[in-house]
Amino acid sequence: MTIKLQELNKKYGKKPVLFDINLEVPTGSFTMLRGVSGSGKSTLLSIIGGIEPVTSGQVVIDGQDVDKLKGKVRTDFYRHKVGFIFQGFYLQPQLTIAENIALMGIFAGMPRSEREARAKELAEMLGIVDVLESMPAEISGGQAERACAARAMFMKPEIILADEPTNNLDPENAKNVIEMLKQIQEDTGATMIVASHDPMVERYATQIISIKNGRVAEEKK
Ligand SMILES: Nc1ncnc2c1ncn2[C@@H]1O[C@H](COP(=O)(O)OP(=O)(O)OP(=O)(O)O)[C@@H](O)[C@H]1O
Ligand SMILES: [Mg+2]
Repeated sequence: MTIKLQELNKKYGKKPVLFDINLEVPTGSFTMLRGVSGSGKSTLLSIIGGIEPVTSGQVVIDGQDVDKLKGKVRTDFYRHKVGFIFQGFYLQPQLTIAENIALMGIFAGMPRSEREARAKELAEMLGIVDVLESMPAEISGGQAERACAARAMFMKPEIILADEPTNNLDPENAKNVIEMLKQIQEDTGATMIVASHDPMVERYATQIISIKNGRVAEEKK
């Protein structure tokens, strides 16, 4: 699932935040998107994930110019291809962990039995079966992280986007999260993009893209 960004520009209202981005993220890579706060990492992930529109330029995913996708075709495309792990590991507080994990399945109209089976399968893989019927407020931080990863993997996406997954974690938990993401990437063959300013993430990356003031400053590895 190659991702290509061509001559991409993004403004929020009149404020330009991304400038002339040209990038290629190869299939199956573990790509780190590095840059200081405000450099444009979350914006770039939101564009790749179809949450934010571009101002100009092209996003091509697996040879498909995503701008040409409309309506239900577009919704289905992103629902099946992309899993998002949001900044802050946000779980819906009024839903159980099992329901949180299966959320995308509800939107996609998957039957309940199939949703429950898939949620259980992922919970087993990530070691959180015990808390499937718990509410988010009743579980540990590490379990919440794994629940968020399970939710992102629910539709078997070929692209997983993680926004600052180690923010606010102590070094040991930060390492656990990155190793979990790396393992998921290796097991599923998904293309993983991790936005982070944590130097620890660099060691795990197969490609590092630095953004500075909305421009790609460096690509290495
Ligand atoms: N919805 C929005 N409306 C207007 N400006 C925005 C919006 N979201 C982000 N910005 C601005 O765009 C720029 C890039 O923000 P972005 O959130 O992409 O940075 P970031 O690299 O993810 O930062 P952080 O490390 O703090 O998460 C910033 O100047 C920010 O103020
Ligand atoms: Mg951000």
